Amino acid sequence: MELTVDSPLDLHLHLREQAMLSLVAPFSAAQFAAGVIMPNLVHPVDNLQRLRSYRQQIIAACGNQPFTPLMTLFFRDYSRDELLAAREEIIGVKLYPAGITTQSEDGVRDFDRIGDTVALLEELDIPLLVHGETSGFVMDREREFLTVYQWLAETFPRLRIVMEHITTAAAVAFLERYDHIAATVTLHHLMITLDDVAGGLLQPDLFCKPIAKTPQDREALRRAVFSGHPRLCFGSDSAPHPRHTKECCGCAAGVFSAPVALPMLVQLFEENGCLERLSDFLSANGRRFYRVEPPPRRVTLERIPWQVPEQFETVKPFLHGQTLRWRLKNQQ
Ligand code: NCD
Ligand code: ZN
Repeated sequence: MELTVDSPLDLHLHLREQAMLSLVAPFSAAQFAAGVIMPNLVHPVDNLQRLRSYRQQIIAACGNQPFTPLMTLFFRDYSRDELLAAREEIIGVKLYPAGITTQSEDGVRDFDRIGDTVALLEELDIPLLVHGETSGFVMDREREFLTVYQWLAETFPRLRIVMEHITTAAAVAFLERYDHIAATVTLHHLMITLDDVAGGLLQPDLFCKPIAKTPQDREALRRAVFSGHPRLCFGSDSAPHPRHTKECCGCAAGVFSAPVALPMLVQLFEENGCLERLSDFLSANGRRFYRVEPPPRRVTLERIPWQVPEQFETVKPFLHGQTLRWRLKNQQ
């Protein structure tokens, strides 16, 4: 049995640089027509020159696969001229609160001072992508940040805002309030709760920001995604880290889900009896909100079980060792 998905998109993807880029990019390039590329490199992608060079590196790492990198700039104070020059080459600008996650030290420290740049994004119709967490208690961070989203939504009513990787029932409910806000949801937050991360022996491979939340939160996410919410889109937040930064004191945050993303999503939607809604979540909702049309690409999966490898070179994938029901056609 086969299943074909039209132009699946991964709207939140970390590809890193150099050897890690070469290792991980082919997984996403084999499964997706396009991906929104996160700019939190060691030196953030915060100017056009670096963005162009990074884009070329990604295309080279994808080999012959027809994968379109949709580039983002790291939020800082930008002038109108800078944003005008970048507008045609970016899908959005990604805002990180300073220090809240991997390589975000150059992020925003004072939200009272971002208004001028955000107003330019609104004027130039450039989407603002947001890592929405405060530095409060880890389970409350996303809910607390909703006041910032509310301020953004009401102060900038024409700005398209993407709440990245939402994890809570509160965020799902908040989404109802503003048509100009969309949200991405990861595969792992549809599957795990805090119990999977820390309820038994600690699982560094499941540790990420935002941390997985309660069963009730996961249920709210699932319900919204599986019922076909028109402003929820898939963003894997696949975030590879080498073993030595995961299995150590001070474990890095990030789940490397790229190798299993599409097969496991198909399985989840099938298990929940809503396969007919998969392509909206994977493609149509994102294309509509971002107003992008990457080159079309049909990706075919076949219902042949395969076991997820334990490790790819230095990185452990999400669901390593587990058997999945669907695999990419032509997968080795
Ligand atoms: C991401 C990373 O490693 O770059 N980590 C994560 O836990 N999700 C950054 C991010 O998206 O927060
Ligand atoms: Zn991320």
